[in-house]
Amino acid sequence: MSAPRPILLDCDPGHDDAIAIMLAIADPSIDLRAVTTVAGNVTVENTTRNALRVLDMVERPDIPVAAGRDGPRVRTLSTAAVMHGDSGLEGPLPSEPTRAALDIPAIELIEQQLLDADEPLTLVATGPLTNMADVVERLPHLRSRIRELVLMGGAVDLGNWTPAAEFNIWVDPHAADVVFKAARAPGEGSAADAIAVTMIGLEVTHRAWLTDEHADALRSTGRAGHFVAELLDHFVGFHQRRFGWEGAPIHDAVTIAHLIDGTLVSTLPMNVQIETESPLCLGRTVADRWAVTGLAANAAVGIDIDRDHFVTLLMERLSVLP
Ligand code: RIB
Ligand code: CA
Repeated sequence: MSAPRPILLDCDPGHDDAIAIMLAIADPSIDLRAVTTVAGNVTVENTTRNALRVLDMVERPDIPVAAGRDGPRVRTLSTAAVMHGDSGLEGPLPSEPTRAALDIPAIELIEQQLLDADEPLTLVATGPLTNMADVVERLPHLRSRIRELVLMGGAVDLGNWTPAAEFNIWVDPHAADVVFKAARAPGEGSAADAIAVTMIGLEVTHRAWLTDEHADALRSTGRAGHFVAELLDHFVGFHQRRFGWEGAPIHDAVTIAHLIDGTLVSTLPMNVQIETESPLCLGRTVADRWAVTGLAANAAVGIDIDRDHFVTLLMERLSVLP
């Protein structure tokens, strides 16, 4: 087996972010070097506390955590506390963290990690792209040390937070605009000029759902499995009531699963632009699925997922955590 892939995860835990962290820890092909946090699902104070809690849960207090931006670049922060609870981990709400986050901002931890890594790092973003926009603007000299950015966000078709927009992009469309304007489709262009971006959007993640049965299957597998089961108890219940769905999409875990097994998610190169002005369509990822604009593709956009394979992988990995 090749050496584990070094990654840095920027997130806003959040139930599905928490599961993404746990999957990254559980799979031997991933080397989670650091976690940074951003305001999104809940305040950055709570997303940071939750990242520390989850890393305690999986017995990895060695992984550094630094808090990032406490709100979008232009808009006022609007959270998803209705979905995740004010704490961000409604349901299990594990004990208080055993440590504090580092006393440096996320951008400094990201810079340190990029400089110290012995190979280019993969950045994974599962919240609003506020911190990633800082990477684009403040670390242009380190672009070649970024292997790629895999982000959960956007959609080719319908949104989930407004009819037009997916939550992560909608919270901070101006940051997303900065990121996608500095992006290139993987395999195209030069690492020094632009960041290879893979957009894992709702077409993919809305097929990546788990149900009460999955929660029950995890409940007695260990402390971590029990924790995920309680996360799902809340998250599945919310999606059943709010959307009438059988299960809850574990959006953010798909980014990690994609890195573990590149056959899971099907992507197409597309040009993606972000709506930053329209009150009706603010935060829409305008994805040129049929290449009608003639604009160069700047991202690999997810269009489908091998759902059964994803669920099997996720359940197997979560079941072996302590
Ligand atoms: O739209 C889904 C995204 O919004 C996920 O990242 C979830 O955690 C929320 O942040
Ligand atoms: Ca998230």
